[in-house]
Amino acid sequence: MAGLVLDRTKSGVYRVFAGFFLAALAFASKNTTSNRALRQDAYGYAPFEVDCPNPRPAIRNSMSMSREETSWVEKRRNNTVWAIRNFVSRANISGFDTDNYMDKIAENSTTLPNIAIAMSGGGWRALMNGAGALAAYDNRTTNSTSPGQAGGLLQAATYLTGLSGGSWLVGSLYVPQLRSVEQLYRMDPNASDSLWQFDHSIIQGPVTLSTTEYYGTITDEIQNKENAGFNTTITDLWGRGLSFQLFNTKDGGPNYTFSSLGQNPDFQSGQVPLPIIVAIERTPNQLLILANSSVYEINPWEIGTFDSPTAAFASLQFVGSNFSGGVVPDNQSCVSGFDNMGFVVGTSSSLFNQAYLQVNKTNAPARVVEYVSGKLEQVGNQNSDVSDWVNPFYRFHPEVNTNANSRILSLVDGGEDLQNIPLHPLLQTARKVDVIFAVDSSADTAAPGANWPNGTSLVATYQRSLLESGRQVPFPAVPDQNTFINLGLNSRPTFFGCDASNLTQPAPLIVYIPNSPYTYHSNISTFQMETNDTERNSIIQNGYNVATMANGTIDKEWPACIGCAILTRSFWKTQTEMPTTCQNCFARYCWNGTTNSTAPTPYAPTPAVKASGSAKRRAIASAPVVGSFLCLFIMVWGIVNI
Ligand SMILES: *[C@@H]1O[C@H](CO)[C@@H](O)[C@H](O)[C@H]1NC(C)=O
Ligand SMILES: *[C@@H]1O[C@H](CO)[C@@H](O)[C@H](O)[C@H]1NC(C)=O
Ligand SMILES: *[C@@H]1O[C@H](CO)[C@@H](O)[C@H](O)[C@H]1NC(C)=O
Ligand SMILES: *[C@@H]1O[C@H](CO)[C@@H](O)[C@H](O)[C@H]1NC(C)=O
Ligand SMILES: *[C@@H]1O[C@H](CO)[C@@H](O)[C@H](O)[C@H]1NC(C)=O
Ligand SMILES: *[C@@H]1O[C@H](CO)[C@@H](O)[C@H](O)[C@H]1NC(C)=O
Ligand SMILES: *[C@@H]1O[C@H](CO)[C@@H](O)[C@H](O)[C@H]1NC(C)=O
Ligand SMILES: *[C@@H]1O[C@H](CO)[C@@H](O)[C@H](O)[C@H]1NC(C)=O
Ligand SMILES: *[C@@H]1O[C@H](CO)[C@@H](O)[C@H](O)[C@H]1NC(C)=O
Ligand SMILES: *[C@@H]1O[C@H](CO)[C@@H](O)[C@H](O)[C@H]1NC(C)=O
Ligand SMILES: *[C@@H]1O[C@H](CO)[C@@H](O)[C@H](O)[C@H]1NC(C)=O
Ligand SMILES: *[C@@H]1O[C@H](CO)[C@@H](O)[C@H](O)[C@H]1NC(C)=O
Repeated sequence: MAGLVLDRTKSGVYRVFAGFFLAALAFASKNTTSNRALRQDAYGYAPFEVDCPNPRPAIRNSMSMSREETSWVEKRRNNTVWAIRNFVSRANISGFDTDNYMDKIAENSTTLPNIAIAMSGGGWRALMNGAGALAAYDNRTTNSTSPGQAGGLLQAATYLTGLSGGSWLVGSLYVPQLRSVEQLYRMDPNASDSLWQFDHSIIQGPVTLSTTEYYGTITDEIQNKENAGFNTTITDLWGRGLSFQLFNTKDGGPNYTFSSLGQNPDFQSGQVPLPIIVAIERTPNQLLILANSSVYEINPWEIGTFDSPTAAFASLQFVGSNFSGGVVPDNQSCVSGFDNMGFVVGTSSSLFNQAYLQVNKTNAPARVVEYVSGKLEQVGNQNSDVSDWVNPFYRFHPEVNTNANSRILSLVDGGEDLQNIPLHPLLQTARKVDVIFAVDSSADTAAPGANWPNGTSLVATYQRSLLESGRQVPFPAVPDQNTFINLGLNSRPTFFGCDASNLTQPAPLIVYIPNSPYTYHSNISTFQMETNDTERNSIIQNGYNVATMANGTIDKEWPACIGCAILTRSFWKTQTEMPTTCQNCFARYCWNGTTNSTAPTPYAPTPAVKASGSAKRRAIASAPVVGSFLCLFIMVWGIVNI
């Protein structure tokens, strides 16, 4: 099994398939109870009953931020004052006394900039490209606060959101304790102790475990969850597999829940930004994701949605309890441990539904397509191709709430409504965000230059803001995708919504940071599940270069322009004239309303800095990769249900 890798040829799919079939047989005959004794003193992956708190957990409507968030944000924003002051001072906005300005605004929460960072989806590509950007923004990264650099933005931020591949990055940083990107991988390709071992795919498991141990552990855990009376789906498998790469190479951190972050002293005291993970609701009995689907967010205190018709939040720690009509009734126990961190990020990245819709269009061999469709149809009928949460909104406002009759809350990959950048939580007016650094690692473009972003995610968010139901989430105007390419808005940082007076409702400035080649062709396929350490480091480094515009070598005023972006809404609120440096930055980076929607020439960008390293890549036929990816999970799934 150790030699089993995804083979990128069509016939390879059969080999992978056969390999898994044999592995499955080997495992099914294994005594699956052997591992359980190890976890006698810990709860492990399965949710468990706890004493209900007093008052008992209840659903709240989404008219405002939670009480917990309100008091936490006050602490956090106080802590960002120093970091913002430092950042804008280092940014060297010439001709402007930033210290003097900060003295004037720091005491007032309206004028103190409220900064957010959003990490898009896009599989491992998004994780690595996003990691490069976060490393650039993190003052703990070596040399990140030297001239030309952008370090300290992370320390200045109040919110950090992640979706799908971006949620893996955010989760990995926070679990089991808060770390920097530099701590999560080693630049030394020979180091075997780094967490991000992407040269071993989730299919193979970590180098430290035999395949039998790896799958044995995962299947036991899922069986335990079922034995405890909970429904499981492919997402449970997916989340457990991810956990070995993201949290802990030895056991995948089965005990780690998102809500337990609330007990971390650094988090409690507001030393780090608030992490938020995004997913989408799949309406009961509905396969298609509509443009107005409810966007769910999971933060350390709550899971829920700001969107109608549910528009409510439940305590994350007690999700898994049988809520009914907005409370956990007296005759029901309270449950904890459902919000396993791997399950949370697995939920945000449960792409399977999409694959189901596309599998017939792939050019995988007929036998495989037939097998996959057959199996997926089966699980699809049971609603198992999504992530099943115990629905805390059961019988909650049944007169309006479309999921009130369902015991199950079905959540799918956060990018399935095309809003692949997790902006939605940050656009909620209650949160009063001033500027969002939107790191986009989407795969929007087609060959010859495939897997680069072209603004599709921003377009989706803008269009949603124009819907009747989108009124609550104001968003600045953005042009169509052709314009993005024709004007190069997707190949360099671009600001949207620069002129606050052109907005009908207050909305944040969007600093769009699209993935593009600076030093490496970082546009690997979303379904590339393995990346050797050299390529991993190159993609992370490319992401770093994108975020810093090659250490300020492409524009030596880029750090100043980031500083201006941070301060712009504050300038507007205090009616301060923009410094000349900022006016010049805005002339360079703001989209000014021009469009050019003619069909662009094929997009095939070349590295902006120099063609370091050969850009020659493995030919990846994504269809067979998707096919074999699904085969794996179906095979393992079969085992769990034996
Ligand atoms: C990074 O920022 C934090 C918070 O603003 C500060 O406490 C710390 O000293 C900074 N570290 C470095 C290396 O600059
Ligand atoms: C700050 O900006 C001024 C004017 O653009 C420039 O001369 C100076 O070298 C910059 N300082 C740093 C540390 O980048
Ligand atoms: C940091 O900067 C120093 C001085 O410029 C340089 O010698 C060193 O190689 C840099 N470190 C990294 C990791 O880039
Ligand atoms: C499991 O799913 C079925 C529907 O498929 C539902 O009726 C049942 O209530 C669910 N059980 C739990 C514990 O969520
Ligand atoms: C979402 O769109 C569908 C179809 O356009 C419509 O039937 C439904 O009422 C909309 N839902 C909301 C909450 O606006
Ligand atoms: C919740 O309700 C389901 C029935 O849908 C039941 O099987 C399960 O035991 C209940 N959970 C708890 C913790 O009482
Ligand atoms: C990445 O983009 C380049 C052009 O920018 C293209 O030549 C290459 O084929 C793309 N790679 C993949 C894996 O699509
Ligand atoms: C790592 O992967 C890249 C891209 O597939 C390949 O070009 C390179 O040769 C690999 N390096 C090693 C050391 O295997
Ligand atoms: C930017 O600086 C980092 C070290 O801080 C270095 O590794 C990277 O290669 C530099 N980027 C460019 C484009 O020179
Ligand atoms: C905070 O700043 C806003 C905008 O300038 C102003 O309207 C408000 O009165 C200020 N609040 C305090 C307490 O000074
Ligand atoms: C707006 O931007 C376009 C290019 O993006 C440029 O050609 C045009 O001159 C700009 N218009 C104004 C009024 O600055
Ligand atoms: C200003 O607002 C209008 C109306 O929403 C919009 O069409 C236009 O593109 C906006 N201009 C800019 C530069 O954002």
